[in-house]
Amino acid sequence: MNLRPLKQNDIPQIARFHSLYIPHSTFAQLGIPFLKTLYQSFLKPRCGFVYTYWEGGKMQGFIAGATDSQHLLRSLFLRHFLFLLVISLKALFRHPRFFSLLFQTFQYPKKVDLPQTKAELLFIAVKPENRGRGIGSKLILKSLEELKKRGIDGVKVSVEKKNRGAINLLRKMHFSQERNFSFYHRERILFSYWIPK
Ligand SMILES: CC(C)(COP(=O)(O)OP(=O)(O)OC[C@H]1O[C@@H](n2cnc3c(N)ncnc32)[C@H](O)[C@@H]1OP(=O)(O)O)[C@@H](O)C(=O)NCCC(=O)NCCS
Repeated sequence: MNLRPLKQNDIPQIARFHSLYIPHSTFAQLGIPFLKTLYQSFLKPRCGFVYTYWEGGKMQGFIAGATDSQHLLRSLFLRHFLFLLVISLKALFRHPRFFSLLFQTFQYPKKVDLPQTKAELLFIAVKPENRGRGIGSKLILKSLEELKKRGIDGVKVSVEKKNRGAINLLRKMHFSQERNFSFYHRERILFSYWIPK
């Protein structure tokens, strides 16, 4: 089976994958140790899930989602407060604008608020040499199936306006555009999808 849930042994690989292929996310800027902690928290599947896609024993793509993204991220920050404080201070030395980025990150939940759903697809990436082969679509379909299994009927996702690949993928999967908003001085689009019963 090419598509399977994340396992403990995949943590170092998925952290590197995220850092390489979604390098501009604030989370990637916090470094590999933070990403390992982040994905470790997805292994307790109460409100998060990750599916990975494999070929030739190597990870080719993954998707991470949550039934309540705000709750998942809040409990991650509370549980690892000291660790996060230390790596944030380190990141501040590398990027002086880091605190403003972190501050804006805390504004994110308000910007993507939709009264009808708390579920969110948080990250998706496919290895560049394997893009355009339908792996991204399979990962989204699997996530929608997972959300439906958990009794969720709607999901949101936000992407940068200039990320044509991700936007085309969401449109192809029949996600609808909710609104545009600005985040880190960049334009983003909020999409939603209502899962048929
Ligand atoms: C977005 C991404 C996950 C798509 O994965 P993928 O495996 O290439 O997706 P698919 O092969 O299922 O493509 C589905 C549709 O998306 C669109 N698409 C995918 N990549 C595209 C690109 N580079 N440019 C334009 N459209 C693209 C196409 O419409 C495609 O349908 P088609 O092949 O029938 O024309 C991949 O491009 C990626 O990893 N991007 C970098 C990470 C990222 O930006 N993630 C989003 C923010 S977390």
